[in-house]
Order: sequence, then C-alpha cells, then structure tokens
Amino acid sequence: MRPFALRNVAVLAACAGAMALLFSPGAAAQGTVNALCSTDAGWCEAAATAFTRETGIRVQQAHKGTGEIGAQLRAEAANPKTDIWWGGTGDPFLQAAEQGLLEAYRPTYIDDLHDWAVRQYAMSQNMVGGFYTSAIGFGFNTELLKRKKLHEPKCWADLVKPEYRGEIEISHPASSGTAYTIIAGLVQQMGEDAAFDYLKKLHRNVTSYTRSGQAQAPNVAKGEVAVGVSFIFGFERWRYDKFPVKTAAPCEGTGYEVGGIALVKGARNKENAKRYYDWLMSPAGQAIGGQVGSLQSPANKTFKPDARIPSMSDVKLIKYDFEKYGRAAERKRLIDRWTREVESQAR
Ligand code: F6P
Repeated sequence: MRPFALRNVAVLAACAGAMALLFSPGAAAQGTVNALCSTDAGWCEAAATAFTRETGIRVQQAHKGTGEIGAQLRAEAANPKTDIWWGGTGDPFLQAAEQGLLEAYRPTYIDDLHDWAVRQYAMSQNMVGGFYTSAIGFGFNTELLKRKKLHEPKCWADLVKPEYRGEIEISHPASSGTAYTIIAGLVQQMGEDAAFDYLKKLHRNVTSYTRSGQAQAPNVAKGEVAVGVSFIFGFERWRYDKFPVKTAAPCEGTGYEVGGIALVKGARNKENAKRYYDWLMSPAGQAIGGQVGSLQSPANKTFKPDARIPSMSDVKLIKYDFEKYGRAAERKRLIDRWTREVESQAR
C-alpha cells in the first residue's frame, strides 16, 4: 500500500473511533483518567477501550511491572500524575499504601467480592482492593524437554537439579511483582536462610531474569526456554491455544497473589478514577481478563468466570502472610538480600 493510502486508512480509523464515541451511550467527551496497569497488556488495553466506549472518558494508560510502578509513584509523590493503578501483585500496592501514596476507597459493592479480596481492603485501611488471585507454579515446553531428555519438573526440589542448568527463566524482583511473590513465598515455606540457599542453587540453572513475570509463558510456549516459573494461569492460556505447554503446581506447596487496585493520593481526576475503578471491579471489567486470555480468578463473585481459569483448590497453597511481606521494609530487605547474595553470584 502506498504511503498516501496508508495515511487515509489511519484517518478513517481515527474517524471511525470518533464516530463510535459520538454515537455510543455516554459518548460526549467526559474528560480523562490517567492510569497505570500491571496486569497482562491485553487486559489493560481492552479494558481502557471498552470503558471509553461506554462512558466517553478518555483513558491515558501505561503498562509496567508492579515493582516498577511502586517506584514511579514514589518518584511522583510530590506532584502525582497518576489517578489509578490496577492489576499486578498486591505486595507493592500494600507497600505504596504504607508509604502514604494511595487514597482509601471502600466501594459500596464490597459484598459482591470474594473474602480474599475484601481482606486486602481490611489490611490496608481500604487503600488497596483485591482484584484477582492466582498461584505460582511452573510451565514447561514438553517438546523441548523431550528433545533435551529432561524430566517434567513437579517440585521446587526438581528445579535445582544440575540437569536443568541454563533451562529455567524467572523474573527480576526489583521490577516484577511476580518474582517478589516467588521469593517471599519460598521464604515463608522453607525459612529464610534455607530459601536463600535454595535461590542460590536455582540461580545456577537460570538462563535469564526478565523484567516482568509476564514473559515466561510466551517464552516457554515459543520454545525459547524449557521451563518458566511464574503464575500458573499464564502458561495455561498457551496450552489452550495448542502450544506444547504443560504446567505443574509445586508438590511441596506454593505462594500466590492477591492482585491490587487503588486510587492514587492527590489524583487530579478523582471522580473519573472512581468510575474506572468501579467499572474494572464490575462483571463487565472483570470478565475482560478471561476474554483476552488472562486467566486469574476474578474478585467479583456475581458472574460466571471463564471456564478455563485454573482452580486454586487443586494447588497446595502456603499460608501467605500478605501483611508482613507487603511491608515496605520487609520487601526492600528481601530484595536487597537477593541482589547481594544471589544475583551477584556467577552462573
Ligand atoms: O497479568 C499477569 C500477571 O502475572 C498477574 O497476575 C500479576 O499480578 C502481574 O502479571 C505481575 O506482573 P509483574 O511480574 O510484571 O509485576
């Protein structure tokens, strides 16, 4: 296609968008909301588009790892540019609440939410809502494992065996909420020193630490790495799409997340931020996860969630202490220790 025609297509697309906005309910321009989103990019984008179509409110939204956004809000504290933060693991949200960066909000529809979601409001003086939940586990590429004559890992103990050297991918705890959930979970499960010994052994087998925990599922599915450690549901989506992927919930037990949602203190577009928040928590907003293949268990219990969402009751979950491991000092201490004792080691 010639550049001129290309430009026309772009103009037409923009006009079509404007027409859709003009003739949809609540369509007149209703201002803006500035959002940060840490769940799958597909969910972030689809939610923003559907919300704008329904309300006329423009969503300016960026997608980043949970740990990265925590750091961004701290940097913006004197002059907040963000109105709402949603999706991503709960611990960095709890840390932001403790640091006075978030605004309390207890929605009227709280009884529509599962108990684990309501508990997150209770432990944060209503500054952090529970948005979804999901468990940590492994995903692996069955064809790659077969080709390399490797067993399918079932337990945390398997991942530190020498046969998996260079075969495992995980994310980096400074930027990724997933990685922090993994480390904090192992610390609670094994005891701190034993967990750090384990992480040092695991480090020898790790090929790379990615910025986000959302990288492992596509990388395993496409055969770029044999084994990924992240949230189980992420790999399941690729299995459903017929990629050679299987998952395992660690036999010894495992940690899990309660994802977060929060209003930012000093938000410039507070009313629009509340409307986006309420919509994201409604069946319409929560169902988008399943529609785009982001298969966490949703917080809202008043609708039938996607049938492909893996059941948490089949997973041996540890008693994760969100209050303790969501504390700013604890999170910093564990990440610093990991950087000092694990990341610094040669592989
Ligand atoms: O959307 C996938 C997901 O794994 C969420 O369940 C989790 O809350 C978030 O990503 C964590 O992303 P990151 O590791 O980039 O902070």
